[in-house]
Amino acid sequence: MVLDFGAQYSRLIARRVRECRVYSEIVPYDIDPDDIKAKNPSGLILSGGPASVFSKNAFACQPDIFKLDIPILGICYGMQLMAQELGGKVSKTGVSEYGKTDLKTVKDSTLFKDLSGEMTVWMSHKDSVEKPPPGFEIIASTSATKVAAMENFKDKLFGVQFHPEVVHTPFGINILKNFLFHICKAQPNWTMVSIIEKSVEQIKDKIGKGNAICALSGGVDSSVAALLVHKAIGNNLHCIFVDHGLLRKGEGLQVRKTFQENFHLNIDYVDAHERFIKKLEGVIDPEKKRKIIGEEFIRTFEGEAKKITDARYLVQGTLYPDVIESGTKEAARIKSHHNVGGLPEDIDFELIEPLRFLFKDEVRAVGEELGLPEEIIWRQPFPGPGLAVRIIGEVTKERLDILREADAIVTEEIKKAGLYKEIWQSFAILPDVRSVGVMGDKRTYAYPIVIRAVSSEDAMTADWVRLPFEILERISSRIINEVEKVNRVVYDISSKPPSTIEWE
Ligand code: XMP
Repeated sequence: MVLDFGAQYSRLIARRVRECRVYSEIVPYDIDPDDIKAKNPSGLILSGGPASVFSKNAFACQPDIFKLDIPILGICYGMQLMAQELGGKVSKTGVSEYGKTDLKTVKDSTLFKDLSGEMTVWMSHKDSVEKPPPGFEIIASTSATKVAAMENFKDKLFGVQFHPEVVHTPFGINILKNFLFHICKAQPNWTMVSIIEKSVEQIKDKIGKGNAICALSGGVDSSVAALLVHKAIGNNLHCIFVDHGLLRKGEGLQVRKTFQENFHLNIDYVDAHERFIKKLEGVIDPEKKRKIIGEEFIRTFEGEAKKITDARYLVQGTLYPDVIESGTKEAARIKSHHNVGGLPEDIDFELIEPLRFLFKDEVRAVGEELGLPEEIIWRQPFPGPGLAVRIIGEVTKERLDILREADAIVTEEIKKAGLYKEIWQSFAILPDVRSVGVMGDKRTYAYPIVIRAVSSEDAMTADWVRLPFEILERISSRIINEVEKVNRVVYDISSKPPSTIEWE
């Protein structure tokens, strides 16, 4: 269990622990010791945090967590807090360490088992533990920090000033493994197979012989969620795929083929493209487009859902980061409604969220284990309103066809170049201008296509990808030659902020 003191690294700690095949959950720093006991964790990790233990509003844990007789590893701020709570001394030494630092062990410790006495670690701190609490011993030092690691072996309490979770601490993962397996005596049984088995069992328990519905979008999250529920309840799962006509080329067909033919899912494929195009007629305001599409999606979904009269459960692909971000259970619920395009509150379903405790890479691994094809597992994110927010100005059938063709060429060339997985999103945009060109001996007056390719971790910030010129050249020449009504291709070299990833 990772107690989160507001560190940017809390998630990383949990992920590293899971990489060691030990299940890990992130909980608030001030969690009640009784709640910890109720979950019966094999160990606790106190994360780092942005505050100083001396600041007025410093996050403090409940002191009784140190009496639980559960092994604890404090990292950075977590170690300083442990030192302060248990009677050691933390000081503003005026010496700070940032970045790669040489560490020397000064005493044999299980935490450094099978590691050499000298190693590079990643530091990021201003305050330091000057004196460990009674019962503790110093187990490693750096030239600037005497207490770089400490332990109270008898009480199984450990602290490290550096960050074992980051890759810049090359043996960090070994240190975490030593803590997990030799101190906490955890078992490495968090595997994809065990995740699937457990999840299927839980879904069976909850739904029993009931019926569930799922809005399948063809993205990796809703796909994996649907497959897990299908494994548990078979044909009692009813998937609804709303094709609003704003999808990428071949997407609707691929989703149908994959899930109906390969996995034999019960899919209600709703071809609603006429309905959406009609509603979008003459609309150029981006927010209006979003609203119309969102609303139409809900109405279409609702109409289909009503036909499945006895469905009590709604499957959603909510992921663990959404749950952590939302903080409270209530907030998590409100946010997860948005995941399906903002389903109305008056549809009274019980939510089934089989991915609630998984990170994105784990969802992909589960998908792989379930036999989901690569194209779906590695599909780049795609906005709910689809191509409509990549067509500047009015969305018409003709303009959709132009963009869909151009976009397919971008995807094809990026895949051919082996860059599809590492790029966050790569796509085409159709602006609302035309420019002059010359083709053969004829003057043309046609649309440009904008290419956008960005790298990102979480879509909050993004940078444009330095695509090799040869790839850009191929994309440009193919689009101009193969897509009618296009005579120019430009590349968007803006980062987010100040731009956004999408053009609308
Ligand atoms: P922006 O353009 O805000 O996009 O930088 C950030 C990420 O969100 C996606 N996006 C959307 N997803 N509905 C969605 O489901 C939307 O209305 C929407 N707008 C943007 C975008 O593709 C990018 O990944």
